[in-house]
Amino acid sequence: MDQDEKKYRVARAALSFVPANAIVGVGTGSTANFFIDALAERRTTLRGAVASSEASAARLRAHGITLFDLNEVGELPVYVDGADETTRARCLIKGGGGALTREKIVAAASRQFICVVDDSKLVVQLGRFALPVEVIPLARAQVARALIQFGGRPVLRAGFVTDNGNQILDVHDLVISSPGELETQINQLVGVVTNGLFANRPADVVLMSTAQGLERF
Ligand code: 5RP
Repeated sequence: MDQDEKKYRVARAALSFVPANAIVGVGTGSTANFFIDALAERRTTLRGAVASSEASAARLRAHGITLFDLNEVGELPVYVDGADETTRARCLIKGGGGALTREKIVAAASRQFICVVDDSKLVVQLGRFALPVEVIPLARAQVARALIQFGGRPVLRAGFVTDNGNQILDVHDLVISSPGELETQINQLVGVVTNGLFANRPADVVLMSTAQGLERF
């Protein structure tokens, strides 16, 4: 089974976490896209969605799913999104698609965060995938210098601007032994909007697609 087939299957499985008549939080990326397409089949029993990126908003809109601004709605029952890495403790690295800040906001506004991945994303320790850090452009060099002090090798994501008008530093070579601590420390750097560690608010459920079927942890 190829990776896309695994993503398709796990994304469809997440539908069972979506209550009837709900406004659902929707993530970003290829796995989230499979979820959006599956969600469209439930359109008639769905109030709508809050999107974590302009790309996901466009896909939801194309399916005729009503979009809400997070400021107009209260707590969401569920947020469904992919990840670049996950541990068995459900700590994640996200932001490969550059939508980490809005993803973190919508996840924080949701009772349940269901993370949908294929088994290539499972790691023992986070950090093989470079950690995305969204920065205010004016602070880019200053933040990069501070990230080097953390033992990382920041690389500017060339030609990329986030939906919030900012830039991304992808930080290679970090040794992430305490993901929650590192998440807090990087977020405290002046000029950082957020970083792609989801450890202080990890996923509540990870659904992982393997060649043998689905695993939940
Ligand atoms: C986007 C993300 C995605 O969830 C992450 O990059 C995984 O993407 P994909 O489902 O395409 O493998 O964090 O910012």
